[in-house]
Amino acid sequence: MTVLPTALDANSPEYAANRATMAAKLAELETEHAKALAGGGEKYVTRHRKRGKLPARERIELLVDPDTPFLELSPLAAWGSDYAVGASLVTGIGVVEGVECLITANDPTVRGGASNPWTLKKALRANEIAFANRLPVISLVESGGADLPSQKEIFIPGGALFRDLTRLSAAGIPTVAVVFGNSTAGGAYVPGMSDHTVMIKEQSKVFLGGPPLVKMATGEESDDESLGGAEMHARTSGLADHFAVDEHDAIRQARRIVARLNWRKAHADPGPAEPPKYDEEELLGIVPGDLKAPFDPREVIARLVDGSDFDAFKPLYGPSLVTGWARLHGYPVGILANAQGVLFSEESQKAAQFIQLANQRDIPLLFLHNTTGYMVGKEYEQGGIIKHGAMMINAVANSKVPHLSVLMGASYGAGHYGMCGRAYDPRFLFAWPSSKSAVMGPQQLAGVLSIVARASAAAKGQPYDDEADAGLRAMVEQQIEAESLPMFLSGRLYDDGVIDPRDTRTVLGMCLSAIHTAPVEGARGGFGVFRM
Ligand code: COA
Repeated sequence: MTVLPTALDANSPEYAANRATMAAKLAELETEHAKALAGGGEKYVTRHRKRGKLPARERIELLVDPDTPFLELSPLAAWGSDYAVGASLVTGIGVVEGVECLITANDPTVRGGASNPWTLKKALRANEIAFANRLPVISLVESGGADLPSQKEIFIPGGALFRDLTRLSAAGIPTVAVVFGNSTAGGAYVPGMSDHTVMIKEQSKVFLGGPPLVKMATGEESDDESLGGAEMHARTSGLADHFAVDEHDAIRQARRIVARLNWRKAHADPGPAEPPKYDEEELLGIVPGDLKAPFDPREVIARLVDGSDFDAFKPLYGPSLVTGWARLHGYPVGILANAQGVLFSEESQKAAQFIQLANQRDIPLLFLHNTTGYMVGKEYEQGGIIKHGAMMINAVANSKVPHLSVLMGASYGAGHYGMCGRAYDPRFLFAWPSSKSAVMGPQQLAGVLSIVARASAAAKGQPYDDEADAGLRAMVEQQIEAESLPMFLSGRLYDDGVIDPRDTRTVLGMCLSAIHTAPVEGARGGFGVFRM
């Protein structure tokens, strides 16, 4: 039998405490998600509706197939910045006429849907996802273009948005633009670079320069409709392929475009899968509030994978990293999950071997993070921890199978890299509200700074102020703690979203399905030199 057993006691005080901590974090998360859903707030949403227009998420809801889920990505973009949570853009994966598509929608209730630096990051991330997974892109456009006060941050890098659209097209990935309102200046290149365009009667405004700018530039008198209305683009310029009479009609036409794409996934849907043997609800009670306390990731795996069925690989060797094979919603996965937090030489070598096996077999990898990093100390340095850690990082970096990462608990130091952190291009990376990620833990970091400062003072022959040191340590600890939290990191687009642990199986299943739109092929070689 390869069904994982469980030792989790849902009646224990530890479980209750873990669950209570997680519940409190989930409540905070919900408050922040609500900010993204509220868009520009009551005043602007009411004005938008009064104009007979639908909010961004309602447009998406009408676009996707009835009763199918929409996997929203980066909803907390811009969290902790001067800009509205959500960054005036909604992105995600939804099914349109049976085709999984990457959908983006400007939120015109937030500063006219203008793009700030976080909007740009979010949009570029969405394009990356479309590319890697070969997902057709549907852009629901209504934006005031660049957020003018922050133009210096976005004008030059922002050109990548239009570049990406045409590169997607060149790669044979369909792009569809539906213009609901303003799409001026640079924004005009969204329909301009897309394979298919839909414009709406007396609503779409697509021009390089609006009437005031034209007047300034050439003295010509003009109006919105003759410069860039749907009627003009459908009849005269030819930029609009489809003329819609209203928003509902535009969405209907966009659906028809997708229905006619003749789009085929590289891999067939594996069909219905057996659910895990244990209750996903219990995922709330596994991770302790204090991340120093270890937890068994097999308890998580048992609640994520089909039938809780898991074939461990090398379970007796390097036991601080659990590795093994399973299926998730029918898709084969190789799982790497930290057990005791620290990665030693054995774990690193085992990971490198396991990653190579997954590449030989074309099996996607799932990384479940709870690591404080690679082991330090004389014994471990002499044992070659650097070269073994490098081996694992080499394997992760050059692996070609799709990677999924979930930050469950700690994700510190180079351990974050070895476990396929953001810089290692996992196809998708999600964080649980319980996770924390930084170069090291706040106390350790503050402690290191203090030791360095003390040594520096001693070297200069100066006295060291212990009281000031204590104050500084407390301040640094607080700062690092705040910067390690998932909402802060999500705000900076270092993940694709913070998710409820109970949704993990569903979210990963949707990602795996999207991933299998593109061929899944592992590296048959092509790793860097493995230092032995
Ligand atoms: N940058 C920064 N803020 C912007 C903005 C932009 N590009 N576009 C709109 N805003 C702000 C407005 O100042 C306004 O703020 P306020 O309510 O605090 O006064 C808010 O967003 C809503 O704008 P408003 O003009 O009331 O909304 P609207 O729905 O009537 O019109 C636009 C939306 C986009 C048509 C209009 O705002 C506009 O023409 N903006 C400038 C477009 C432009 O030329 N962009 C440069 C392209 S590169």
